[in-house]
Amino acid sequence: MVRFEAFCGKLAAMLARESGMMRQIEKSRELVAELNSSPGWFFETLEKMVLEPAAIARQKTGIWPNEFTLHRAPDRSFVVLAYIWDAGLADIIHDHGSWGIIGTLVAKLGERKYERIDDGRREGYCELRETSGGVFGPGETTFVLPLDEGLHAMHNPTDGVAVSVNVYGKTVRPGYIRFFDPARRTVTRTYPPQTLKEVLAVKTLAAIDPGRAEGVFRKALGTSRPPQLRQEYEEALRKLRG
Ligand SMILES: [Fe+2]
Repeated sequence: MVRFEAFCGKLAAMLARESGMMRQIEKSRELVAELNSSPGWFFETLEKMVLEPAAIARQKTGIWPNEFTLHRAPDRSFVVLAYIWDAGLADIIHDHGSWGIIGTLVAKLGERKYERIDDGRREGYCELRETSGGVFGPGETTFVLPLDEGLHAMHNPTDGVAVSVNVYGKTVRPGYIRFFDPARRTVTRTYPPQTLKEVLAVKTLAAIDPGRAEGVFRKALGTSRPPQLRQEYEEALRKLRG
């Protein structure tokens, strides 16, 4: 674990020193490659978790069930997450609320990158083109830029588990990510479980009794709500007004 703590220290110092995003990405890739050159430190993380089940219960439930939080910088400048990919597991194409480094720690991970070829103005609609792909072994990294500039999907091409250690920089769009389906040409906002419950409640209130729902939505908007939820309430109100 000393190795991991030293990594977090070096990463924090570098991000405080460098201001350009591309430079931060380049330096972060070097640090992740160095951390991932051997997996012993991660064995110790998992050993602790297995022998102290309360540590698993403390893990935050996010959008991805295979995600493990390793470190959150107190000043929110970065977060380090591990993803354990069971054999054959594949992502849906998605964007990110920040730049990110994806580094293979165990086995191999495949990536497909995409670019958006529509203008992004039509709500819920997208057209994508696959631009590149690759397979990354231990110590190798790939990266994504925020929002529409970083669309990709990762997968585990092996028949055993694979592990990635990911670093994400400062969040530029909090609260949700977007899933893209190029075959159906759709893009959908995807929320972590707690937010999702409120979003589903908003949709259902409008479906059961639009007249009463309008009043409820106005009341909710009069209280403090994070921006991603305000957006959902405002959209629901717009739909009610036709
Ligand atoms: Fe991703």
